Amino acid sequence: MITKQNKPRVLFATSEAHPLIKTGGLADVSGALPIALQQLGCDVRVILPAYGDILESNLSIKLLTEKYLPGVPGKITLFSAHLGDSSVQVWLVGHASAFARRGNPYLDAQGDIWPDNAERFALFCKIIALAALDHLQLDWKPNVVHCNDWQTALVPALLKQTPEAPRCLFTIHNLAYQGLFPQATFNALGLTAELWSSEGLEFHGQLSFIKGGLVFADRINTVSTQYAKEIQTPEMGYGLEGLLRYRRKVLSGIVNGIDDTIWNPKTDPLIIQNYTTNSLAKKKVNKAALQEMYRLPAKKDAFMLGCVSRLVEQKGIDLILEFLETIKDKPFQFCLLGAGDPSFHKKFISMAKKNPAQIGVIIGYDEKFAHQIEAGSDIFIMPSRFEPCGLNQLYSMRYGTVPVVHHVGGLADTVIDATDMTIADGTATGFVFTQPTVPALNQAVTRAHLLFRKPRIWQKLVRNTMNADFSWQKSAEKYLDLYLTMLQSDS
Ligand code: ADP
Ligand code: GLC
Repeated sequence: MITKQNKPRVLFATSEAHPLIKTGGLADVSGALPIALQQLGCDVRVILPAYGDILESNLSIKLLTEKYLPGVPGKITLFSAHLGDSSVQVWLVGHASAFARRGNPYLDAQGDIWPDNAERFALFCKIIALAALDHLQLDWKPNVVHCNDWQTALVPALLKQTPEAPRCLFTIHNLAYQGLFPQATFNALGLTAELWSSEGLEFHGQLSFIKGGLVFADRINTVSTQYAKEIQTPEMGYGLEGLLRYRRKVLSGIVNGIDDTIWNPKTDPLIIQNYTTNSLAKKKVNKAALQEMYRLPAKKDAFMLGCVSRLVEQKGIDLILEFLETIKDKPFQFCLLGAGDPSFHKKFISMAKKNPAQIGVIIGYDEKFAHQIEAGSDIFIMPSRFEPCGLNQLYSMRYGTVPVVHHVGGLADTVIDATDMTIADGTATGFVFTQPTVPALNQAVTRAHLLFRKPRIWQKLVRNTMNADFSWQKSAEKYLDLYLTMLQSDS
């Protein structure tokens, strides 16, 4: 319970937050969790770099102050904004050479990482640490700093050196991205020499940003219980499994939620036709719209497979490509929205050219299309090789688009396989396969299609998925408990 004495004042540090800037699920979490926490009584501020795209957008942004700070090259400009329509304040950290450039926060126009990412995010971490100590004179001092992913992971290491520092929680959204840089970068960043050790930021001779969070945070969590277990194994620990096992007493999993104000088929302004569990027939209008968008034949009875994804190895994209070779004689249509690895772009485009009656491909990033795919597809395929949580399977369920997923990470925690039993007792919410292989994916899609052809059972399944509760409130309560435990403990 929150009392006057233990009220969490949370500085939520992140490198992306919807609707200000988004490349993936981290932005969705950072755009929604702080609001849910505020609703539970926490005092929350979000801190985010002031990227060029944010400054040049038409969002309402206020200049707070400009400063030169010890140990920080150049001038820092602090702005304030709000998370969407909420009253949660966002502090934007502006810096001409580090953040003012336009485009993707992490990648240049060619898709290569910006060569100065270590300097940029080390600078961001220094500013977060100063804000956490109220050394930016913003007149607010948190008692918890909640860091997310490697871009903010140096903060716990920096704060460890200060006795009056707040408590630190580090959330792993994806252990595959660690922020690894050469030793020379460590030297150039001016970090305390004692941090260069295998009990510190050093990882096999390289500087590891993520180790800052894993070694020095008071608590660590990840975005599903299953992934919290998986990262303690050599298969998914990337060499960090020993450290994670060592810290297992302070490591937990909290599954992500979904923001019902953005992802709700009843009210979503980005889809062609709104619908609810009571007006499922209207969902078909969205399928027709999708067929038109993708220039696929307007077949009412086609089984529509959707996919919205970063096109990277994690997502099992190679499996999808191979699977698509097998759909020629089936009444399936497939539509993809994605961007990522250019070799995947080429393969999808040539696949769509070869089979335009069944395969529609849009390479790029587009919020509106993403919503339309969720609304218009019959199933949503996610054969991820690993998936810390995954949000698209949750959005799909909300839209009655049945997810077909590999049993891994958050997908395993959130989707219940449709068997005779789970269909009968009303708990089924999707189709789950246990091996990341094309035959397994194929079999799961075939199982889905067989049920699709039994409209009464299918509709029941669709309603189940739409009624599954993945609201942020439940997960935010778990974060709140974690903060309160951190504030109680002495270490
Ligand atoms: P990850 O963060 O690993 O990419 P998640 O499933 O957690 O995976 O979240 C992905 C988020 O990014 C979802 O909101 C999804 O709709 C969105 N997304 C991914 N690719 C695109 C795209 N090409 N266009 C629009 N939205 C996208
Ligand atoms: C990462 C993961 C994804 C998760 C998201 C938000 O990008 O890949 O599984 O849903 O973070 O936590």
